[in-house]
Amino acid sequence: MEKKRILSGMRPTGRLHLGHLVGALSNWVSLQDAYECFFMVADWHALMSEYENTAVIRESVWDNIADWLAVGVDPEKSVIFIQSQVPEHLELTMVFSVLTPLGWLERCPTYKEQLRELKGRHLATYGFLGYPVLQAADIALYQAHVVPVGEDQLPHLELTREIVRRFNGLYKKIFPEPKPLLTPVARLLGLDGRKMSKSYGNVVALSDPPDVIRKKVQRMFTDPKRPRKTDAGHPETCNVHSYYAVFFPDKEKEVAEACRKAVLGCTECKQRLGEALCGMLAPVQARRSAFLSDRDRLEAITEAGRRKARARAHATLEEVRAALGFVPCPTK
Ligand code: TRP
Ligand code: SF4
Repeated sequence: MEKKRILSGMRPTGRLHLGHLVGALSNWVSLQDAYECFFMVADWHALMSEYENTAVIRESVWDNIADWLAVGVDPEKSVIFIQSQVPEHLELTMVFSVLTPLGWLERCPTYKEQLRELKGRHLATYGFLGYPVLQAADIALYQAHVVPVGEDQLPHLELTREIVRRFNGLYKKIFPEPKPLLTPVARLLGLDGRKMSKSYGNVVALSDPPDVIRKKVQRMFTDPKRPRKTDAGHPETCNVHSYYAVFFPDKEKEVAEACRKAVLGCTECKQRLGEALCGMLAPVQARRSAFLSDRDRLEAITEAGRRKARARAHATLEEVRAALGFVPCPTK
């Protein structure tokens, strides 16, 4: 039986952190054998919010790809490509934009939230309102069946399904309705217990050097009901403990017990966590540096990805043109 197709993407808007690892990348890595995977650097999407400072995009593209490769996204198994190098994304966006009612976009909760959160950014633009239309085109262009995403992306997936349903109904049924595949791991909070976000400054980047990781972990909030080491702790409400649960499940029980019995102090508990994270990230960082210092290799990987992605995208677009009754556009 043919493998089902996956498409997912990440916006190159800064260095990747532990949240990307547990929320997306580890999932991508484990899906590579069972699915035909397309993983994309969503630089057009990045441009929508960062158009006033494109330097961050330029700096993040290779940096992020190096992290993907370092954690095990495998170019032999998956197609790794850069969205803007496959112009068909924009062509399909055009088609979808004419059949997407404004109300669907204006009502989209992520749109309203971003307008609120990124206030200084002048995001009340035509392009930004169309963010989910481009995302729908990303997915439909590869006729993807499954989209691994975090919960925050569910509204975009719902919109994608509505848009392709509209297309299929108006013209011809050529797009599957894609299903989200939620990452199985519980959500990881930031170092301060708030939502993990670069803009809150509460993340551990995959590329943070060991001394930075140790310092950041040492500043983590712990059980507020445990002011002294001699008080019994409540690991179930402690964010440090949830980091153990997510990254070092084999140590979780021992830590929780020692915490409850007040034999393990928070400073030491965090020291151990910091060391463990450094140990976990050391091989990732070594591979990352090797990739970053070999730009030719990175470019060869994305060039191979571009060709494969483009072949698939071109085929879909020919189907779209035929469904619309447009003249074919044969040039590759
Ligand atoms: N919107 C996604 C995010 O912010 C990135 C993205 C762009 C994406 N295109 C996609 C995710 C297609 C899944 C499928 O993380
Ligand atoms: Fe949290 Fe560890 Fe302190 Fe317990 S010992 S409260 S798990 S930091």
